[in-house]
Amino acid sequence: MSTPTADLLAELADIGRDPVRGGYTRPGLGEAELELRAWFMEQAARRGLEVELDRNGIVWAWWLPEGSDRSGAVITGSHLDSVPGGGAYDGPLGVVSALRAFDLLREGAEFPTRPLALVVFPEEEGSRFGVPCLGSRLVTGALTPERARSLTDADGATFPEAARTAGIDPDTIGPDPERFADIHAFVELHVEQGRGLEDLGQPVAIGRSILAHGRWHVEIHGRGDHAGTTRMQDRHDPMVALADAILAVREAAEQVDEARGTVGRLRAIPGGTNVIASRADLWFDLRHRDESVVRELLARITERIRAAGEREGCTVEVHEESFSGEVRFDPQLRTRLEAALPDAPVLDTGAGHDAGVLASVIPTGMLYVRNPSGTSHAPDEGASDDDAEAGSVALATALEALMR
Ligand code: GLV
Ligand code: MN
Ligand code: MN
Ligand code: MN
Repeated sequence: MSTPTADLLAELADIGRDPVRGGYTRPGLGEAELELRAWFMEQAARRGLEVELDRNGIVWAWWLPEGSDRSGAVITGSHLDSVPGGGAYDGPLGVVSALRAFDLLREGAEFPTRPLALVVFPEEEGSRFGVPCLGSRLVTGALTPERARSLTDADGATFPEAARTAGIDPDTIGPDPERFADIHAFVELHVEQGRGLEDLGQPVAIGRSILAHGRWHVEIHGRGDHAGTTRMQDRHDPMVALADAILAVREAAEQVDEARGTVGRLRAIPGGTNVIASRADLWFDLRHRDESVVRELLARITERIRAAGEREGCTVEVHEESFSGEVRFDPQLRTRLEAALPDAPVLDTGAGHDAGVLASVIPTGMLYVRNPSGTSHAPDEGASDDDAEAGSVALATALEALMR
């Protein structure tokens, strides 16, 4: 039998399905994400919560003590966008669990002891504009409004255009220190993106840290030409340098214990079978606990790609899209979470989250829910209905303790 948390998640099942890649494709500020955000606002309004869209596109739904302002609030939530061909749980589980946790808390009290806000962040994956955690980076000042306004997606749509469709004025985005000046705590619940809980035989864990990670975009400029008439020795083929770039990332990461290096996206321009490309692009992602190791890997990889470009008579540009240092969640908040959830183990993760960005400005923690496949950013990602409900109950317990 399904559980109330699973029932809420099931309401989203038809939004943003990807018939070609499988799973879901819900790019930030695109149609599917906006439909999901509208669903959330409707759910929040139906519960009598005060719904607000802030100037960086973060949705807030407030439950306030009688006559109280919003100071000293506890906040919880996650995101509703996805990677291309992603699963149903990365992001949405944290949002529906926030609603379910509110329902559980509301059963016991007409008013909360502290303000509680359920929050939804836009474009967490950075799948559309390249910068992950776009909303939380803007609000904390980790991304400048000028840089955000300069971003474009793969179809050439600009961030300002997309923002306007989502009801965000791109001229007013940017740091909002007042909003976070007086937040007591933020807890993000998320499906686990590895096998930690499955191996431990536990449904829910408390987060401790996130690896340092970054993303880079490589442009390799060569000379477009005819596949049949251009002699092999006359070519400046960026695809050949690109092939070496993929191995550069893989081999650099393999040489360092616990490092991760991924090339998950490529583009050949103009992209014809009988056309030597004039340009080839790739995007890579590097992660390690120690940010200086990430920087060293980057230097090694960049050097190798430049050399590969040179051999082929191509020029190479490497642009940093985003970088985040290692995050250690607030130890005092973690102690409070551990006291509220004494059976929950403590886990580290290699996955980035809005909680990792907000940890730089407010006491922040995370809860993870067991994922039997151990897989994420793929359609197999999941949680059993019972575990999803256990996650919401744990979240309600944690929030209740933090609101005391
Ligand atoms: C987000 O899920 C990331 O870690 O890339
Ligand atoms: Mn996520
Ligand atoms: Mn993700
Ligand atoms: Mn460039």
